Amino acid sequence: MTLSDTKPWWQGSFGYQIYIRSFADSNNDGYGDFQGIRSKIPYLKDLGIDFLWITPFYPSPMADWGYDVAEYCDIDPTFGNLDDFDALVEQAHESGIKIVADLVPNHTSDQHKWFKEARKGPENEFRDYYIWKDPAPDGGPPNNWVAYFGGPAWTFDETSGQYYMHLFLPEQPDLNWRNPKILEEFDQILRFWLERGVDGFRIDVAGGLMKDEQFRSNPEITPWDPEGDRWEQFESFEHRYDIFQKENHEIFRRWRSIFDEYGAYLHGETYILEPSGLAELLPGDGMHGGFWFEPMHIEWDPSEIRRSIVEVSELVGERILWAAGSHDMPRSPTRFGNNDLGRSRTLALNVVFSFLPGVPVIYQGEELGLIDGDVPEEHKLDPVALNDKQFGGRDGCRTPMPWSSGSNNGFSETQPWLISKQRDVSETAEAQIGKPESWHSFYKELLHTRRSLPDLTGLAVTWLDSGQGPVIWYERGPVGVVVNTSSETETVKLSLNSEIVYKTSQMELSESQEVAIPAAGAFVYLRD
Ligand code: NOJ
Repeated sequence: MTLSDTKPWWQGSFGYQIYIRSFADSNNDGYGDFQGIRSKIPYLKDLGIDFLWITPFYPSPMADWGYDVAEYCDIDPTFGNLDDFDALVEQAHESGIKIVADLVPNHTSDQHKWFKEARKGPENEFRDYYIWKDPAPDGGPPNNWVAYFGGPAWTFDETSGQYYMHLFLPEQPDLNWRNPKILEEFDQILRFWLERGVDGFRIDVAGGLMKDEQFRSNPEITPWDPEGDRWEQFESFEHRYDIFQKENHEIFRRWRSIFDEYGAYLHGETYILEPSGLAELLPGDGMHGGFWFEPMHIEWDPSEIRRSIVEVSELVGERILWAAGSHDMPRSPTRFGNNDLGRSRTLALNVVFSFLPGVPVIYQGEELGLIDGDVPEEHKLDPVALNDKQFGGRDGCRTPMPWSSGSNNGFSETQPWLISKQRDVSETAEAQIGKPESWHSFYKELLHTRRSLPDLTGLAVTWLDSGQGPVIWYERGPVGVVVNTSSETETVKLSLNSEIVYKTSQMELSESQEVAIPAAGAFVYLRD
């Protein structure tokens, strides 16, 4: 038996996040769908992708664009039906691509039948599926918890005179994970999809499921301004009691045994910006992995880049999922300059991620160097757009994929669900595929180089840079990765008989084994 027979399928793999509404529209109704994804499987295979993580596709009133699930074991008609889903799984598998779905277990839609029942009153059999509390003595919310999207985490229910809890919108009531029936319901839901051939799940809000048993108020750090920016509101508190409760782990341990039966990948949206916090969420016998979000918050600065990579990599290693962008954050090239420099920096960051322990994931369009789409103010649809002063909401990173020079960038013949300005032709897949030195070519070559190199699983990372200067440099087994983060050319000297196997711009190895790396350039080498 070889190592590749025994190691889980995701080790050494490269993922691609599909925001389904905006990926590919097969029936020209303005929404991306499963048939659309199917039509792009050859594109994804050619790019070198190993698995797709597809954002929620379940029936939903779309208050939070699918992260408000009204039925867990079905497909929203916007995206197709269960037959389309099965066909996608089959086609992807035939092309050697795995499918990872997105499970939203922290909350349901307020239109889910469980909540519609629960709302009928305290005697209803589904009441305890959710979190209900009497008002505080002054009639206000039971404690000081606030929602991620701003405002209190409690909404008053006139019918029963009680509050229900929600970490996100009032339309997304939180489930009560202390109720064993919820555990049983989700065991069934997971098996439903695993039986259909799903290869894994990304768990939404993985740190939020369990709440403090006594519902204690969080310590206030700065005075809470209920009218403030959503992040300011959230960061006014130390989240000691609402999220990251140790008991979450019991749930993941239970799910792990189910996932292991199917050889499926259990990983989470582990939104915590402390390496030690991520390590606590991923003790090894629960989720196989978790996303690390700090790189989505850093400035382009060598010490920040190092800080966001080195410590967590040492602590959490193979369990990390590395990503520079997602459907929740401004696109990385936008954050790093909103121009070609930002695109080069994002590519360089992805080069760094690609050879570290863990699983790299790119967000649809990252391979085209996409900056955020331009969504006119009056067309913004993200429910948090108004009170997200820091980022202005999440619409910019969710605009449709630009496939070609046609109208609506070839995404759809109809006006897409999210209206944005037409992109420049040079940003489209059509213009970039097969063109030397296009962003698409650089990403494709990165993924293919990675595949062609020896398996690095289990090998440790050695950091070779000084820890101070602009060069970031590590070796792992026979592979070395070097990035120049500065805006000047930097030179490094490699050991004898090294060979450059990938580079993001013109770079040559001189006779004295020196390489001059242009600003934001990166290269990969094989050493003797
Ligand atoms: C994280 C998801 O990525 C985000 O889009 C969503 O709004 C929240 N969780 C709530 O489900």
